[in-house]
Formats: sequence, structure tokens, C-alpha cells
Amino acid sequence: LSVDASTQNAQMIPGNMFGIFFEEINHAGAGGLWAELVSNRGFEAGGSNTPSNIDPWLIIGDESSIIVATDRSSCFAGNPVALRMEVLCDATRTNACPSGGVGIYNPGYWGMNIERAKIYKVSMYIRSSDSVELKVSLTSSDGLQQLASHTIMADQDDFAEWTKVEFDLQSSETNTNSRLQLTSSKSSIIWFDQVSLMPSDTYMGHGFRKDLASMLADLKPRFLKFPGGNYVMGNYLSNAFRWSETVGPWEERPGHFNDVWGYWTDDGLGFFEFLQLAEDLGACPVWVVNDGASTYEEIPSATIAAFVKDVVDGIEFARGDNQTAWGSVRAAMGHPEPFPLYYVSIGNQECSKRYYKEKYVKFYSAIKASYPDIKIISSCDRSAISEVNPADLYDVHVYTSSGDMFSKTRMFDSTVRNGPKAIVSEYAVTGNDAGRGTLIAALAEAAFLIGLERNSDVVEMASCAPLFVNDNDRSWNPDAIVFNSWQYYGCPNYWMLHFFKDSSGAMLHPSTVQLSNYDQLVTSAITWKNPQDGNTYLKIKVVNFGNKAVSLNISVTGLETGIQRFGSLKTVLTSGWLRDENSFQQPDKVVPVASPITNAREQMGVVLDSYSLTSFDLLL
Ligand code: AHR
Repeated sequence: LSVDASTQNAQMIPGNMFGIFFEEINHAGAGGLWAELVSNRGFEAGGSNTPSNIDPWLIIGDESSIIVATDRSSCFAGNPVALRMEVLCDATRTNACPSGGVGIYNPGYWGMNIERAKIYKVSMYIRSSDSVELKVSLTSSDGLQQLASHTIMADQDDFAEWTKVEFDLQSSETNTNSRLQLTSSKSSIIWFDQVSLMPSDTYMGHGFRKDLASMLADLKPRFLKFPGGNYVMGNYLSNAFRWSETVGPWEERPGHFNDVWGYWTDDGLGFFEFLQLAEDLGACPVWVVNDGASTYEEIPSATIAAFVKDVVDGIEFARGDNQTAWGSVRAAMGHPEPFPLYYVSIGNQECSKRYYKEKYVKFYSAIKASYPDIKIISSCDRSAISEVNPADLYDVHVYTSSGDMFSKTRMFDSTVRNGPKAIVSEYAVTGNDAGRGTLIAALAEAAFLIGLERNSDVVEMASCAPLFVNDNDRSWNPDAIVFNSWQYYGCPNYWMLHFFKDSSGAMLHPSTVQLSNYDQLVTSAITWKNPQDGNTYLKIKVVNFGNKAVSLNISVTGLETGIQRFGSLKTVLTSGWLRDENSFQQPDKVVPVASPITNAREQMGVVLDSYSLTSFDLLL
């Protein structure tokens, strides 16, 4: 394996090369990265017609002791439904309430993870003309074990108008399958709306689940593409992601039904929060906009103007100063500084739609007129881009078998070297090979990414898909990170991405493998400077996609300073079987294992395991 590490033959990998793509799929956000524990907090998920389904809220008590209904009496115009709870029983009457009272409870997203000593912030809106005695508690899933409680006492008419009530709960125990209860033993009629329970220790205090956001941060992503995927478009436009309905105070957001992936989202994780997440991760935001199409519908170009204006308004929300109409909304949300939004993707996989190209030009012209520095991403492939249909980048999605993904390491080798660059914003091995995240899938994807590194003069960005799956809602397999309410682990392809986290902005060096009768090796070499210790490393990555262990001589030429004898590392991702996966029981079955390289030199003999990804990080 020869590496020419000289500076004259090196080429810089784009600074935003490796990032992440977040889609609201598999409860990735609602019941996932967004830390809100109450599901359907505004009782809107059943639709605005009443009576409606209040799932997953359930009732404590029977028909002789409680009546629960919905009506449209909310104080929020955008989400009119409120829940009406009529307590029929009373401690002082013959119809005595059962012990613990009657009421409603919310189990969250397949059980709330409540941790001992941790503080949870409760917020809810209440209205009642009666005197109120309401117990708000965190309990086990059967209601028998109480973890924390707070009693709200109010005189008649204290809550005659809708009143926001906020307080903290501190749990005395840990229970990973808990619920939030609102109960009373006092005859009264109480309306509830926008009931929220948030852990107090979210990532950077911005509402993201700490464990999951930390997994993203560990990848050092250079961009965050959001919010989908097909989620952006919806099966029907009435269910599409509408950025403007996801900003402002969370209580006023209507929420919407994610009809593509089949669940309600309260939109706590809205446009602002995505921009905030990008900032918190040190990633640049890449916004995928709805271009007036859904799976089953399309607005023709003649009537697309309102959609175009909506996108320009969205950019103003992100970038406008606080004197602008939308910039002031962002500022009021606590972020007076603009967000650095420099990438906008027009639609998702829309190129074959009848009006896409005509509409695209309208989006392109309007955005460039106000924001010439924004890079616009087309859903069409390179061949469709021209002077009349210009684009800065074109979006590529690759879903295929492991064998084909491995062969796609050469996908961009013969691409014409000038013109718009590719953003490979969705790629994954799918099907039988992939299972729920196998080693072989990760290795094939690694080979593909090495191909992108080697072609990073024509490929500017790359991200895998999907990023997250809540194990209780597997709409799509495989995914990079698996979680439930309290556990999480990375699949082999999540760990594979760690081998690429130093590549963005690094120098790529020519590397070649000469080995007769074995074509299962793919390699790349970069040099990069670690800002933490100030050291420069030569990182040589090799995928061995075959079933043979391989002995290689590594030969590095062109170095100005040479390789330090000590301080170098070898990291290997492999496992006993190519279909091995991680799981909640064995989260570390397929993870990178690092060991020091003693006596590192420009000429070294190494052994590559069969079915492995190996990185040699040589200290210069
Ligand atoms: O990643 C899952 C889906 O695959 C995305 O929503 C879509 O863009 C692609 O077809």
C-alpha cells in the first residue's frame, strides 16, 4: 500500500464534507431527540373535529366517576382542541372517589424514562370555574409506584380564565417505564391544554435529549440536513412540514400528522430548533424545503408563487436581522444573531415530477435575488443541470445491497470534473445484507465513503440515512443510532462514521494498493491537524471487504518530517461474523478497537483482518 504524502500531490477535502441528515422518521424527533416526554401534549393528534381520539392519553376511573371529552375551547387559535375532565366522584359525597382519585395519564412514547433525583419541568394550561384540587404525579406504568408529585390547589374562579401553571418535579426513584398522571378526588370540571414534561438537563439547555445529541456531536458533523426526506413533502400537502407553523412559542404550534411515517408530531422540534441544533453541533444547516409537491400531489408552476415566498420568508427567519418581519420572530425566540443558513435544497427526490424543473427555476431565482451566497441544491442529477436550470449542488440518494455499495466506491471516478458538485445526502445499504445494521453493511458504506473522499473534487458533502430509530417504531431499517426511552447504541455504520470525522477539510493524498488476485481492498490517506493537541496525523484507512486476512507493506513517501516512533494508533472495526449487529443487550459487539502502533515507520508490515475497516493514525 503506497501513500504519497507530499503536499504537492495533495488535494483538500471540502470543509463540509461529512455531516448528518436528520429526518422525522421512526420517531427520531418526537419521542426521540426532542426530549419532551408527553406525547400529544395539546390533545390535537385526533384532529380538530370533536369528539376526538386523545391517544396515548388514557383515563383513570370508570364512567360513574369521570367523564373525559375534547372540545374546541383552547385559548390557542392554532390548536383549538382542549381536554375537558369532569370529576363526578367526591370524597365528601356518597359517590366517593377510588383511592388515588380519578383522572388522566400520559405514558409518553412507550413509557417515560424518569431518573432518581433528576428535576422535570411541568407546564400546563388549566381552566375551571370550580375550586380545584389536582395532583400531578410521576408514577410507574401501573400507577402504583409514585416517583414525584405536586398538588395544585385553587379556589373557585382562580382558573376562570386559561392559566399557565408551571412547577418542577424531582423524582425519588428511577423508573424507565413511567407515566404522568393528572388526578383529583374532588368533584369539578377542569379543562387542560398543552401539558408538557421536560427533563431539566437537555443538551446545551436547548431541549435535545442529552445522550442522543452527544452521539451526534461525537461524529463532529460539518452539516446538518433537515427535516427530511419524504417527511418534508408529506403524502399530502396538508400534512407537509410547514416551517412557519413550527416556530414561535411551543404552546401555539398546531403540530401535524406525519402521514409518510404514520405518527403525530407536536412540532416541539421545529425549524428554530433544527437551526439551534446545527449551531450546537458546530454544523452548518442544510434546509430541505417543500417545493409545492407531496407524494400524491403537485402544485403547478403557474401557482407556485406562495410556496416560493414561504421559502424566502424561512430564510429571512434564519438570517434576517431583528428589524425584519421574520428575523424579529427568531430574535423573540432568544436568538437575536442570525443563523448561518447557506444551503437550501429544493424538494426531496422531486426531479421526475411534472413541474419540478419549471418550479425549481422560480425558487432558484427568488432565493438568489435576495441571498446570492446561498448554495442551492437540485433534486435532479447532474445531466439535468444547465445554464437555464442552474444549481450549485445536486442531490444524490443511494440505497442498495452491500455488494453494489462496495462497487460504488468508483461511482464518481468518471464524473466530469467541473460544474456543480454532488451532495450524497442519503446513502445506506438496505435489504437482507443490512438487517438492522450489520458489519457488512458498514464496511460496504465505508468503501463507498472512501470513494467519495477520493472524488471530493466533485463531491462536496455526504450523509447517511436514516440517522435514528426508536426501537418501538421501526418504519425503516437499518438506521445508524437505535434508542428507546432510556437506552441507545450505535450500529456498526455509526461507528464506521467515526473513521471519517477528521476528513472534512483535511488533505487527501494519493494511495494505491497493489495485490494480485484480490480486489477487495479500498483505501484512502489524509493528513489532518488535531486542534486539541496541535499534532498532525497521517490517517490511512483500508476496507477489507473479503473473507481473507491480508498482509500488506505500507510505504509512505513524501513526508517532510517523518513519522514519530510512538503516539500512533491502529483502530479496527470488525467482528466474528459479517452479519453481526449491535443490540441493547450487546451494544459494543461491533465497535472500533484501538491499539498503539509500536515502532511506527514509513515502511511497515501490517495485517488486515478479513471483513474489516482499519485506520492507521500515524503521528507526524
Ligand atoms: O431515508 C428514508 C427515505 O428514503 C427518505 O425519506 C427519502 O428521501 C428516501 O427515499
